[in-house]
Amino acid sequence: MPGSLLLKQPPHFLRDAKKAGKKVATLTAYDYPTARLLDDCGLDFLLVGDSLGMVVLGYPDTTSVTIEDMVHHTRAVARGATRTWVVSDMPAGTCLTTEIALSCARRLREAGADAVKLEGGRECLPMVDAILAEGIPVVGHLGMLPQRVKEEGGYRIKGKSESEAERILADALALDLAGVSAIVLELVHGPAVRQIVEQTASPMIGIGSGTDSDGQILVLHDLVGLFPWFRPKFAQARADIASEIQRAAREFAESARRH
Ligand code: KIV
Repeated sequence: MPGSLLLKQPPHFLRDAKKAGKKVATLTAYDYPTARLLDDCGLDFLLVGDSLGMVVLGYPDTTSVTIEDMVHHTRAVARGATRTWVVSDMPAGTCLTTEIALSCARRLREAGADAVKLEGGRECLPMVDAILAEGIPVVGHLGMLPQRVKEEGGYRIKGKSESEAERILADALALDLAGVSAIVLELVHGPAVRQIVEQTASPMIGIGSGTDSDGQILVLHDLVGLFPWFRPKFAQARADIASEIQRAAREFAESARRH
């Protein structure tokens, strides 16, 4: 959008928020109308999450999402979010080498992303450093990594054992030091979250990780009841949009057949 960059937050605003003791609130968005609606809601950023593979494209998990899918949906969201930061997920397989990661981050940036998010810890540091050196802000993602769900054999709480908690903390410290804007902590055990929050300068944004993080992120479809076939236990639905769509469609069908 012409001129929209002038209205957007500077890259360090998420770190500033943590310094000021302000909690971060963010949701996912995958299309233009949703992004435009959410742009007015005071959210800190909109995540074009690769969860779009599940809640929009109908895959069983996020592993089939491609960079083309992410570019396509990032463009739509960027058209709608003229004030709010847009963060786009680097999909599975795009952080295997620095070259691939850089090329994907550039494509997402060109599509309108203000930052990119990537799943993984210290093994991803060369990619994080290269993307940051390019001037593209990065959001990390630790704990349960949905892109590795097949290797993991399912979704489970991370950081319950001392060794796992220490590993996640070491990953968080490394990403924090590298200069990421924030880190998503997915399904991380509460005590581990508290330890990480205390030792990092960038905000730790929790999902299914209790209430002690520096903020929360949710998949929009879980919040508004738009994917009724599955909703994670931790996600509280505050609307039932699926029922509303079906009610309107049934009323329409009945009325169209009557007249
Ligand atoms: O893809 C996504 O929506 C995410 C959130 C669950 C944080 O990564």
